[in-house]
Amino acid sequence: MNRIEKVREHVDAVLLAMKDTAERRCGYLHLYGVSQACALIALKRNENAELAVIAGMLHDIYSYSAMDTKEHAHKGSIMAREILDDMKIFAENEVDMICSAIYNHSSKAVTQSPFDEVLKDADVLQHCLYNPLFDVKAAEKARYEKIKSELGIDHE
Ligand SMILES: [Fe+2]
Repeated sequence: MNRIEKVREHVDAVLLAMKDTAERRCGYLHLYGVSQACALIALKRNENAELAVIAGMLHDIYSYSAMDTKEHAHKGSIMAREILDDMKIFAENEVDMICSAIYNHSSKAVTQSPFDEVLKDADVLQHCLYNPLFDVKAAEKARYEKIKSELGIDHE
């Protein structure tokens, strides 16, 4: 089984265990939506798409399993490291890359490593594409405009 599908099995199990069906729906949409956006952005920027997809699937895993968003990026990076280490199919530097992206993903106002930026941009893209008729959050406007123009969507 490829490594993305192995992680997806774990993420599915976490989501299926959620009692609140509305929250579970949000979890599926957001985690897999962000992971697809990670694939798109990583392929466009020639970053590691496999690891980016996995970072996307795991990035809010703490929020959905604990139903608590406080410090979720930092706590999520610890949780993701445990999950990935347990699988024994990732090298240490790969786990470090994924966990760094998760740890930093809430710091949207600053620019960090190119791989970290894939996840931040994918998080914003999923929020904005969920319903393009909704207003874009003020904190996400600049990133969303930058990603759109990077993708060649720059007409008014
Ligand atoms: Fe997110």
